[in-house]
Amino acid sequence: MTATVEAKTEGTEGKVGAVPTFTVTLRIARYDPEVDSEQHWESYQVTAHATDRVLDALHQIKWEQDGSLSFRRSCAHGVCGSDAMRINGKNRLACKTLIKDVNPDKPITVEPIKGLPVEKDLIVDMEPFFDAYREVMPFLITTGNEPTRERIQSQQDRDRFDDTTKCILCAACTTSCPVFWNDGQYFGPAAIVNAHRFIFDSRDEGGSQRLEVLNDKEGVWRCRTTFNCTDACPRGIQVTQAIQEVKRALLTSRF
Ligand code: SF4
Ligand code: FES
Repeated sequence: MTATVEAKTEGTEGKVGAVPTFTVTLRIARYDPEVDSEQHWESYQVTAHATDRVLDALHQIKWEQDGSLSFRRSCAHGVCGSDAMRINGKNRLACKTLIKDVNPDKPITVEPIKGLPVEKDLIVDMEPFFDAYREVMPFLITTGNEPTRERIQSQQDRDRFDDTTKCILCAACTTSCPVFWNDGQYFGPAAIVNAHRFIFDSRDEGGSQRLEVLNDKEGVWRCRTTFNCTDACPRGIQVTQAIQEVKRALLTSRF
């Protein structure tokens, strides 16, 4: 831990096993459409433990200092994908980011993810993101008869799209993409990842429909291979690789 650890033990002084704490400043982008004409910054000091995450600090601020602070979160364990935000300029999940890992010696900046309209504080309107997701038809498409048992698939076939099944739709990838920032019409990496998940599924028969959707001028060809998406993905999905595979499938129509 790089933070200055103060000899402070949260009222447990003298007790065996007291956990050391440190003080950290969070600089948070605030915006309330009912009173603010534009976004502004507010700073808060919190007392944190080495095991605390940025989400814990946000909770502490909301519950103990300023109940008007607004942000989304649900599972608090990296599963639901609802608390993606820009922390020190990088898209991350607040519930998966330890305070001690983001240089708490300096104020930690927390902003909403970029490229989507801000509704309040750290909450953005996710509808444009989900519109693109819906357009790629992220569900199994088949034309044959209803099966009487499960659709069998070899391990090798399953492996083909394993990586892209891990997406939790947090939007960290799409909102780290400079093409998306400049033009919100671009489908964005997350939609392509979720198209990939079905295009390369041997049981699915809608691959060519999805490829047609992604062949659009706002589709997969807008990707400039900056790798921001891969760096941002909290699930470690090889997002850029998935996009390249979809491009290749379009060129060869082999999928
Ligand atoms: S690909 Fe990764 S970063 Fe993008 S939405 Fe899915 S989980 Fe989030
Ligand atoms: S709160 Fe669910 S992923 Fe962070």
